[in-house]
Amino acid sequence: MNTRAPAVEARQLIKTYPGDVTALNGMDITVEPGTVFGLLGPNGAGKSTTVKILTTLARPDSGTATVAGHDVLRHPDRVRRAIGVVAQGSGADPVATGRENLRLQGRLFGLKGAPLARRVDELLERFTLAEAAGRQVKGYSGGMRRRLDVALGLVHRPEVLFLDEPTTGLDPEARTAMWEEIGRLAGDEGLTILLTTHYLEEADRLAERIAIVDRGRVVVEGTPDGLKGELRGDAVHLELRAPLGEAGRTLLEGALGALAGVHEVLIDRARVSVRADDGAAAMPRLLGELERAGVSVATATVARPSLDDVYLRYAGRRYAEADPRSGARDDSLVLAGGAR
Ligand SMILES: Nc1ncnc2c1ncn2[C@@H]1O[C@H](COP(=O)(O)OP(=O)(O)O)[C@@H](O)[C@H]1O
Ligand SMILES: [Mg+2]
Repeated sequence: MNTRAPAVEARQLIKTYPGDVTALNGMDITVEPGTVFGLLGPNGAGKSTTVKILTTLARPDSGTATVAGHDVLRHPDRVRRAIGVVAQGSGADPVATGRENLRLQGRLFGLKGAPLARRVDELLERFTLAEAAGRQVKGYSGGMRRRLDVALGLVHRPEVLFLDEPTTGLDPEARTAMWEEIGRLAGDEGLTILLTTHYLEEADRLAERIAIVDRGRVVVEGTPDGLKGELRGDAVHLELRAPLGEAGRTLLEGALGALAGVHEVLIDRARVSVRADDGAAAMPRLLGELERAGVSVATATVARPSLDDVYLRYAGRRYAEADPRSGARDDSLVLAGGAR
């Protein structure tokens, strides 16, 4: 039984910005201590705004939040001592060296003398920055900078670490290295990590629990496997050679939805998404129905439901459309059709 208080608890956070922008529209989050929690959502969903409120850098219009047991509005100073923050943009001073950045950060949190020197060396070693410690940060690669950012967030041994899009902008190799690093951090005793990401794969790999955020609130929450497992059957995706008009769409949604073993037909322009009890068995019937309707198919794929399908189910649109930066794609099996 878990009797410890949550490491992060946000209730009904609302935040609007001038110009009638609703950044948060009733955000609810609970993060258990010692776990990695992922806030997954497209660009503009409200992830950074949530992090800013939880790290005391912004105030909500209404709602409440506690971090490490402290109220973010009543005791921001206590919250700040308990947390490490890695913001979406780098916080390091580019003209200082890696070591200087870490020493300065340590002093801000009251470390000095031998304990400070030890902590800085430990972090330089741990984040494989020891060799580059004496060089100015402006000469660092993207991956080195991001590793330094994480090290900076850890200098004072926080209880809760916030990572806002820790791998955005990194090349695939640096991203994989950062994933390994975050995985190791998660094994550290007691450390709670709240990370935000717009990469489906990142949330899937790193987070024990994820909350999918859309338009300023959580649309669904659970473990990655649990969320995928709730979707029955297989995900079938068909790419049409030409987009359908409104009338064709409605007609086809009806026709495909009437097929045995086929549920939840969603057609968006040239993309048809269907869930089927048995994807391989449904495929010939789906293709036959499309042929009868005079619609030609470019590609057809069957896969186990992915987080992309979970997002589609709860947000009502495909992730790649909500977030063109996401690079969302299927790793699914191509069964029919030509090149894209
Ligand atoms: N300082 C600001 N002023 C005005 N609008 C903002 C500001 N910060 C964020 N927004 C808007 O609030 C919404 C949520 O933004 P954000 O929290 O940064 O989303 P995410 O981090 O998920 O991409 C977006 O529509 C964004 O344009
Ligand atoms: Mg953001």
